[in-house]
Amino acid sequence: MYEGLLKQYKEYLPITDKTPMISLAEGNTPLIPLHSLSKELGINLYGKYEGLNPTGSFKDRGMVMAVAKAVEEGAKAIVCASTGNTSAAAAAYATRAGVKAYVVIPDGKIAMGKLAQAIIYGADIISIPGNFDEALKAVRDIAKTEAVALVNSVNPYRLEGQKTAAFEVCEQLGQAPDVLAIPVGNAGNISAYWKGFKEWHDKKGTLLPRMHGFEAEGAAAIVKGEVIEQPETIATAIRIGNPASWKLAEAARDESNGYIDSVTDEEILNAYRKVAAQDGVFVEPGSAASLAGVIQHVKSGKIKPGETVVTVFTGNGLKDPDTAINATDVNISKMSDLEEMRMHLRNGVSEL
Ligand code: F0G
Repeated sequence: MYEGLLKQYKEYLPITDKTPMISLAEGNTPLIPLHSLSKELGINLYGKYEGLNPTGSFKDRGMVMAVAKAVEEGAKAIVCASTGNTSAAAAAYATRAGVKAYVVIPDGKIAMGKLAQAIIYGADIISIPGNFDEALKAVRDIAKTEAVALVNSVNPYRLEGQKTAAFEVCEQLGQAPDVLAIPVGNAGNISAYWKGFKEWHDKKGTLLPRMHGFEAEGAAAIVKGEVIEQPETIATAIRIGNPASWKLAEAARDESNGYIDSVTDEEILNAYRKVAAQDGVFVEPGSAASLAGVIQHVKSGKIKPGETVVTVFTGNGLKDPDTAINATDVNISKMSDLEEMRMHLRNGVSEL
C-alpha cells in the first residue's frame, strides 16, 4: 500500500527516529500525456497533475514535511500566509497531526474552493485588507515572537517535501524531461523541483532539465527585476509581487540554462480553457500559467520541436469554479420535455 511521501522517500528527506510519519497519502500523482496539445505544438507534452493530491494542490508535499518537523520540534500550532492552497494544506495536515492552524489570507482574493477547505478542516482564518506579500510579512514577524511554527516556503522543510515531485517525474518518464515548465508565485516550487532534479541526477544518473518558470504579467517581479507593490492577475494563486525564494528561483533558471518569463491573463485563460477542452484536464488558472508559457516558448523557439516537456499542473480546477464559469461561454439549455431533449440530441448527433 502506498503510504505517502515521508515513507516513500524517507532516505532523501530530513527524517529522524522522532519524526511523526503523518500522511494523507500525498504524492504519487499521475503524469498525464497531453495528446492533443502535443500534436498541435509538435512536442511530447505531459502534465504532472498535482491537483490530484489530497487537498488538490502540490502544497501537500511540502506541508506534510513541514508539519511533521514542527510537531517533532514540539510545536502545538502552525501559521502561514496564503493565496489559498497553502492554507488548505496547512489546515488539513494540522488536523492530521493534532495541532492548530492559523492561516492569513488576502481579503476577497482567494478562490472559493480554497476558502471552503480552510473552513471545513477547521483552521483559524484571519483575513487582512492587504495582499499575499503583506500577509507573509505579518506571519514572519508573528512567528518570531509567538509559539507558532511558520510553514510558508521560507521554511526549508517545505522545499524538501516539494522536491519529491521531481523524483516522481524522473521515475515516471524513466529520465528527466528536456524542459520542466512551472508557474512561479512565491518561487518556492521552482526552487524545490530544481533541488530534486539535481539530487536525482547525483544519485540515479538522470539528466537535468531546463527550468522554464512563468510569472503572471501583472505580478512579474523576477522578470522585471523589481518588487511589484500592487500585483494583479486573474490567477490569484500567483498574485505575488515580492517572491520569498527570488534568489533560489534565479539560481534554478541560470544553473539549468532556463528562463523565467511572464504570461498575460489572456494567455493564461486561453491555456486554461484549451487543456480542459482538448485534453480533458481541469486545472486552476495559476496552474495554466505554465502551459501558457509552453505555448509561448514553442512559438518563440525557446522550446524546440520534438522536445519532451513536463508542465506542472499545480492545482485542481475545482478549487476555483467561479473562474471556470466566468471565463467560458456557458451553454446550458433548459428543457423539461423528453421529446424536446430527444430532438436536441438527434440534431446534435446528426452533425457529428
Ligand atoms: N500554483 C498554484 C496553484 C499555487 O497555489 C501556487 C502558490 C503556485 C503555483 C506558485 O508556487 O509560490 O512555490 O512559486 N501558492 C501559494 C499559496 C502562494 O499560498 O497557496 P510558488
